[in-house]
Amino acid sequence: MVRIAISGSVGSGKTTLAKELGRELSFSVIHLNELAEKYKIEDVEELQTFDFDLDALLDTFEKELNEGLHQNTIIESHFSQYIHPELIDILIIINRDLKELKQEYEIRGYNPQKIQDNLEVESFNLCFYEAEEVGYTVGTSEVLGRVSSSQDLGHETANPRGFVFSFDNNKSMDNLVEKVLRRLKKLNLLEVKDE
Ligand SMILES: Nc1ncnc2c1ncn2[C@@H]1O[C@H](COP(=O)(O)OP(=O)(O)O)[C@@H](O)[C@H]1O
Ligand SMILES: [Mg+2]
Repeated sequence: MVRIAISGSVGSGKTTLAKELGRELSFSVIHLNELAEKYKIEDVEELQTFDFDLDALLDTFEKELNEGLHQNTIIESHFSQYIHPELIDILIIINRDLKELKQEYEIRGYNPQKIQDNLEVESFNLCFYEAEEVGYTVGTSEVLGRVSSSQDLGHETANPRGFVFSFDNNKSMDNLVEKVLRRLKKLNLLEVKDE
């Protein structure tokens, strides 16, 4: 049973990737942003957004994860790095070119302040650093080598969970999906399927 979390800046491709992976793996998909509406505190009109109670949302959601719900699930949101690393097998951070992000924000009609704020999130690779701060283990080639040559990362309870890996979304979405699937296979997170 596997849980995959996806994060990255706004417009990086999280929702699209989650849907495509969900279809590919027959996993269910949870869009945490939709849940955030339930925890809304107030609108922040100047930033075309709203504040919500992240702690309350996480309390409820993590309780469900602890109870064993949401297995074989993909969880996507720009705040999914805040989910406790022990509850997630792999966190995927998507990086995207700043020019493409800016275009996406303009298409979405974001105001200049919101555009600037979101571009800063990407240029500082904020989601990744937040993941490290929360306690995710940075996936390195050493980690990959160790896991693929030894036991199963996802299925052995004794094994650590909570790895974070970055992926560049700099070609087609199909390309990104392929890169992620390859990585999941290398980490023995997927049932072996006929190619
Ligand atoms: N590799 C890509 N090539 C072309 N368009 C892309 C690519 N990745 C994402 N997009 C497009 O960018 C937009 C934002 O993607 P989305 O998945 O909604 O991002 P997020 O959920 O991270 O905000 C969508 O219109 C999506 O189709
Ligand atoms: Mg989205």
